[in-house]
Amino acid sequence: MRFASVASALASIGTLVAAASTQGLYDLVERRLPQRSLNFAFELIETLHVNASKPQNDHYTISTASNGSIAISGTSVSALATGLRRYFVDVAHVDLYWFIGSRLDQIPPTLPRPNHTITGASVVPWRYFFNTVTFSYTTPFWSWSDWELELDWLALHGVNLPLAWVGFEKILLDAFQEVNLTTSQILPFFSGPAFQAWNRFGNTQGSWGGELPLQWIHQQFELQQKILSRMLDLGMTPILPAFTGFVPTALVDVYPNATVVNGSQWEDFPREFTNTTFLEPSDPLFSKLQNIVMTKQLDYYGNITQFYTLDQYNENDPYSGDLDYLRNMTRGTWQSLKAANPGAVWVMQGWLFTSNSDFWTDERIEAYLSGVEVNTDMLVLDLFSESQPQWQRTDSYYGKPWIWNQLHDYGGNQGLYGQIDNVTINPIAALANSSSLVGFGITPEGQEGNEIMYALLLDQAWSPTPIDTATYFASWVRTRYTGVNNSVTPQLYTAWELLRTSAYNNTNLTSNAVSKAIFELAPNITRLTNRTGHHPTTINYEPAVVVHAWKEMYAAASTEPNLWANDAYKHDFVDITRQVYSNAFASSYAACIAAWNTTNGTAEFDAHAATLLLLLRTLDPLLSSLPQFNLAPWLASARALAPSNTTNSTIPDFYEYTARNQITRWGPDGEINDYASKSWGGLVGDYYLPRWLTFLDYLRSVGPDGYEDGEVRARIEGVEVGFQVPGSGLGVRESTGDVRTVVETAVVPALRKMGIL
Ligand SMILES: *[C@@H]1O[C@H](CO)[C@@H](O)[C@H](O)[C@H]1NC(C)=O
Ligand SMILES: *[C@@H]1O[C@H](CO)[C@@H](O)[C@H](O)[C@H]1NC(C)=O
Ligand SMILES: *[C@@H]1O[C@H](CO)[C@@H](O)[C@H](O)[C@H]1NC(C)=O
Ligand SMILES: *[C@@H]1O[C@H](CO)[C@@H](O)[C@H](O)[C@H]1NC(C)=O
Ligand SMILES: *[C@@H]1O[C@H](CO)[C@@H](O)[C@H](O)[C@H]1NC(C)=O
Ligand SMILES: *[C@@H]1O[C@H](CO)[C@@H](O)[C@H](O)[C@H]1NC(C)=O
Ligand SMILES: *[C@@H]1O[C@H](CO)[C@@H](O)[C@H](O)[C@H]1NC(C)=O
Ligand SMILES: *[C@@H]1O[C@H](CO)[C@@H](O)[C@H](O)[C@H]1NC(C)=O
Ligand SMILES: *[C@@H]1O[C@H](CO)[C@@H](O)[C@H](O)[C@H]1NC(C)=O
Ligand SMILES: *[C@@H]1O[C@H](CO)[C@@H](O)[C@H](O)[C@H]1NC(C)=O
Ligand SMILES: *[C@@H]1O[C@H](CO)[C@@H](O)[C@H](O)[C@H]1NC(C)=O
Ligand SMILES: *[C@@H]1O[C@H](CO)[C@@H](O)[C@H](O)[C@H]1NC(C)=O
Repeated sequence: MRFASVASALASIGTLVAAASTQGLYDLVERRLPQRSLNFAFELIETLHVNASKPQNDHYTISTASNGSIAISGTSVSALATGLRRYFVDVAHVDLYWFIGSRLDQIPPTLPRPNHTITGASVVPWRYFFNTVTFSYTTPFWSWSDWELELDWLALHGVNLPLAWVGFEKILLDAFQEVNLTTSQILPFFSGPAFQAWNRFGNTQGSWGGELPLQWIHQQFELQQKILSRMLDLGMTPILPAFTGFVPTALVDVYPNATVVNGSQWEDFPREFTNTTFLEPSDPLFSKLQNIVMTKQLDYYGNITQFYTLDQYNENDPYSGDLDYLRNMTRGTWQSLKAANPGAVWVMQGWLFTSNSDFWTDERIEAYLSGVEVNTDMLVLDLFSESQPQWQRTDSYYGKPWIWNQLHDYGGNQGLYGQIDNVTINPIAALANSSSLVGFGITPEGQEGNEIMYALLLDQAWSPTPIDTATYFASWVRTRYTGVNNSVTPQLYTAWELLRTSAYNNTNLTSNAVSKAIFELAPNITRLTNRTGHHPTTINYEPAVVVHAWKEMYAAASTEPNLWANDAYKHDFVDITRQVYSNAFASSYAACIAAWNTTNGTAEFDAHAATLLLLLRTLDPLLSSLPQFNLAPWLASARALAPSNTTNSTIPDFYEYTARNQITRWGPDGEINDYASKSWGGLVGDYYLPRWLTFLDYLRSVGPDGYEDGEVRARIEGVEVGFQVPGSGLGVRESTGDVRTVVETAVVPALRKMGIL
């Protein structure tokens, strides 16, 4: 009944289709605004056939129905969801966020009405989200409610093509069992809970610190069923995994004649954990396994997608560079996909062409891509388009449809960072210059902060001209801090404008991703500051500008003390303080080393060393105060996924170990030490601080002539190894939520002492 008036209003626009499929949106509104879904009316118009080979742009219209409800019509559920957020943000000034959750409940009791009809249209059919490794850096221990927030966020931001990797090991387990491998031959192949992404890529095999239990596999599979069902309800087409060719070494025991080669060694991992066995697509067993993997998913989930993610050579060079060989690899793989599901489209991350560009010459890329003989049977993710786009050099992937993606973040690093120009101007320019560009997307290794940069690109997918970032940031501020008086303290606008034109406007291509705090790195007398590349430690702006932004933020809370009770404000204030600390640490560190190098043991060295320690000691309680900046919830969420009905701590300890190991030593022996480091409470106080204490004590005891690198390394490693032990309680702090007290009693005095305030 509630659709009637809208239906007549829309009659002239297009054909109405069954309202039932909009149920997911009413459910979303009920989840976030209980009992308010009756105030909304969603209508689908013009059913667009979601056909992978001919995708079309979406559009929506927002108006007020005659009964006063908010009427949103659009070409797909995703278009409606995008329109819904547009209403929330532009008319009601509320939104839903990472970390702090939904602030939609701040909406006025009487819904504000749009005073004119608002329309929107996408400039690309596909809005993509996730990197294969986000499933290990960010989501490995997520509960269903974490996923619910994420999926609501994705829907409201117009995402209609997300990756869906959770629980894939269940499918592989089934498939390998069906070809007669035993469970005990299969389980040793899998990597631990925090490392599954690299096993799925064939970079790693096996698990250090324990074996992946069946319990994990079954529980993740159950989670995947919920995720997929919700994705469908919210109008998204999930991209499911497929069989890549990476197999347990034991496969060769069962099939001695199988055509296998060794994958390459990844990141100096020992042989037992890398050089993964790769079954070549030319072997009939490959097609058989592909068929089982795809059929199992069709059986479990239904024929819900045409899209399959499949990466064989991610940071892992092919066995041969012969062009015929490369073409055969893709042709065989493609045919196996089509045999199992005739509508299949192969989605591939294009990262290999960036990371292993020595191997991937233009002619090899062309040969490899040409094995997929129908262009629309493939979809390439240009992975790091804001900085190292590959689509120009590959002539738009030789005609394959592709997506422009912002990568932005490596390893879940946390610096304030963005490229407001490249993320708004470049995708629009690409659209004009490449006829096979079909989407914009987001491919962060870790979803760890700088949320505005992600929202910006997804909103750019609905704007034919580059978004004006000054207006965009101001609107972000207006909406983000709503709930205090319904008007926003002016200093907050100033703070974000300062950030927009500094940290968020990097144009220096030598360091083009989120920067890392050097205190997260193993202490050293050299090579910590000014690192460039994908884990830069450069500060590409005047640090004083961020201090200025901090002062404005702080002043805002003097003007409006209620801000201390505002979750968005608390989050952002902690985040900006973290950056001020990170920058201050870098300059004090440089001064400390210089003092040591000239005359160790002097008062000057001691003063700088004391500053470094003061920074870490006062940052730790600040970060701990909020759960999203605290280590404990990460560890607890890992343990929470272990079976609850046992007193045996082996499994929870193993899950916790993988959680600790990933963000610190990352590998059994520190293979990619500190890659996924975090400025988290507990980690700063019980890991980084002891490392720096050890280091500074050593420097105090020895001058440059007596310095022994091996000795320093050994001492620091002692701290690192000790921290891996699960159940030790090391780094576990409670979150009080009381940011204000820590700021007033610890942060402000520290910054004063350093002359920053
Ligand atoms: C229309 O709405 C906008 C914002 O939604 C508001 O700024 C403006 O004052 C409104 N105009 C009228 C005439 O109500
Ligand atoms: C697995 O073993 C069963 C029983 O020995 C046999 O019938 C079947 O053919 C085998 N499957 C494969 C793929 O070899
Ligand atoms: C492997 O190949 C050899 C030589 O082609 C053949 O004699 C043998 O029967 C095969 N073994 C199996 C298990 O298929
Ligand atoms: C592992 O792969 C690397 C790179 O291809 C190679 O150099 C190394 O010899 C391999 N190791 C073994 C034991 O196969
Ligand atoms: C590629 O596949 C064709 C057809 O199966 C085969 O004749 C050829 O030897 C293969 N080339 C290489 C280098 O593997
Ligand atoms: C799944 O649906 C697609 C159309 O979306 C169709 O092309 C394909 O044949 C179907 N696959 C199966 C296995 O039914
Ligand atoms: C911005 O994009 C251009 C064009 O792709 C590229 O050359 C430049 O390096 C990018 N800037 C940064 C900071 O990555
Ligand atoms: C970003 O910085 C560059 C270089 O300083 C400048 O040309 C550009 O106008 C800035 N962009 C914005 C949106 O402020
Ligand atoms: C870019 O960054 C590098 C490394 O920090 C620095 O050497 C260079 O001067 C910077 N370029 C500009 C134009 O600021
Ligand atoms: C110490 O000073 C010497 C001489 O100026 C210089 O070569 C060296 O790089 C400095 N070492 C460090 C760790 O800064
Ligand atoms: C390197 O970093 C230090 C500390 O942040 C800074 O003082 C120095 O100016 C930087 N050097 C260059 C060449 O950018
Ligand atoms: C410091 O860095 C250098 C250069 O990367 C490295 O050779 C050395 O082993 C490091 N020292 C420590 C103690 O980590």
